[in-house]
Amino acid sequence: MSNTVLVTGGAGYIGSHACVELLQAGYSVVVVDNLENSKIESLNRVQQITGKTLTFFQADIRDKAALATIFTKENISSVMHFAGLKAVGESCEQPLKYYHNNVYGTMVLLDAMTEANVKQLVFSSSATVYGTNPQVQYTEDLPIGAVNPYGRTKAMVEQILIDMSDSDKLKPTQTPWKIALLRYFNPIGAHESGLIGEDPNGIPNNLMPYVTQVAIGKLQQLSVFGDDYPTPDGTGVRDYIHVVDLAKGHVKAIEALQSEKFGEGGCKAYNLGAGLGYSVLELIQAFEKMTGRKVNYKIAPRRAGDLPEYYADPGLALKELNWNVEKTLDDMVADTWNWQVKNPQGYN
Ligand code: NAD
Ligand code: UFG
Repeated sequence: MSNTVLVTGGAGYIGSHACVELLQAGYSVVVVDNLENSKIESLNRVQQITGKTLTFFQADIRDKAALATIFTKENISSVMHFAGLKAVGESCEQPLKYYHNNVYGTMVLLDAMTEANVKQLVFSSSATVYGTNPQVQYTEDLPIGAVNPYGRTKAMVEQILIDMSDSDKLKPTQTPWKIALLRYFNPIGAHESGLIGEDPNGIPNNLMPYVTQVAIGKLQQLSVFGDDYPTPDGTGVRDYIHVVDLAKGHVKAIEALQSEKFGEGGCKAYNLGAGLGYSVLELIQAFEKMTGRKVNYKIAPRRAGDLPEYYADPGLALKELNWNVEKTLDDMVADTWNWQVKNPQGYN
């Protein structure tokens, strides 16, 4: 059987780390990416880290003909689907752009997969699909309630994938869908080589890249959004996960899809998080201690739409995917800093 994985969005932050882990685990890798939010240099670096080659197609996943060509040319057995837009604020300003890319793009991909009879899929979902819940440690059975258009694209795609899988029960099929919905918590960090990492365009929205750019002097001051939350130090608490641990979770998911566990098909959600919550101030302190740099920050008003606190219950991923995080917050900080210092202008 072919062991070739099509990685959509493989030139991006998480996708490039997944390519490294796939190549190192012995898979062949084909990447499709339109480079809307990434640079091809990331894939050169993936090859440098692994000493292996991958195949790259520059194309949009909404381009049916391009996808058909890829599935015809390459002997693909499964798909990791990272391609998508991810900026929450932009999704509120331009919702259609998000629905078109994330939802319609996935539908085109699913058509191409169906046509090629490739039925194994790992989907990049997000903890954002949970919305507001009374409990702060999230289990996969909590109700879905995304609160912004970006989150709703993830929730919608999850529902489409569940429906695709359910439809197998109603018709005879030789090849049932086998789908893992991976709900990431807050991915940060970079590959320990310092060759690949997060290279955000413009001013970052997320905490870790903002902290790094303040520490290196690119940005003046970090705003800590709120210190009056009902959390131990009043700042927001999140479950930060090292991007390499996250990437390894994807390889574990592919292995599970190919194993007995998914023998009869199905679509299942898994939280990928550490199961620990750190506050904004704790992250800043860890960063200052590790790098010896001061992070200039001020307390600012709460950011609209932010929840006070949540973190993963990663128990199901441990039980069914045999996956758990290996890296600590200090590793996340050290690897982010290593990447930043070695690549002050990102991939440019
Ligand atoms: P990223 O922007 O670095 O990577 C996404 C990649 O997809 C980019 O290389 C981009 O050029 C490509 N892409 C976008 N639209 C495309 C299209 N229509 N056709 C082809 N390629 C396209 O983002 P990331 O942080 O690596 O995130 C990867 C996935 O994980 C996304 O689906 C994102 O929503 C999801 N996710 C990310 C986070 C996070 O905090 N980074 C959290 C939860 C979920
Ligand atoms: N924060 C600040 N200052 C900043 C940026 C963030 O104080 O400049 C705080 C936020 O208020 C929050 C914490 O840092 O308490 C983390 O914020 P991020 O923007 O880094 O991450 P979010 O938890 O808001 O969201 C991220 C991704 C979403 C994804 C979600 C999944 O941006 O796309 O994780 O849990 F859905």
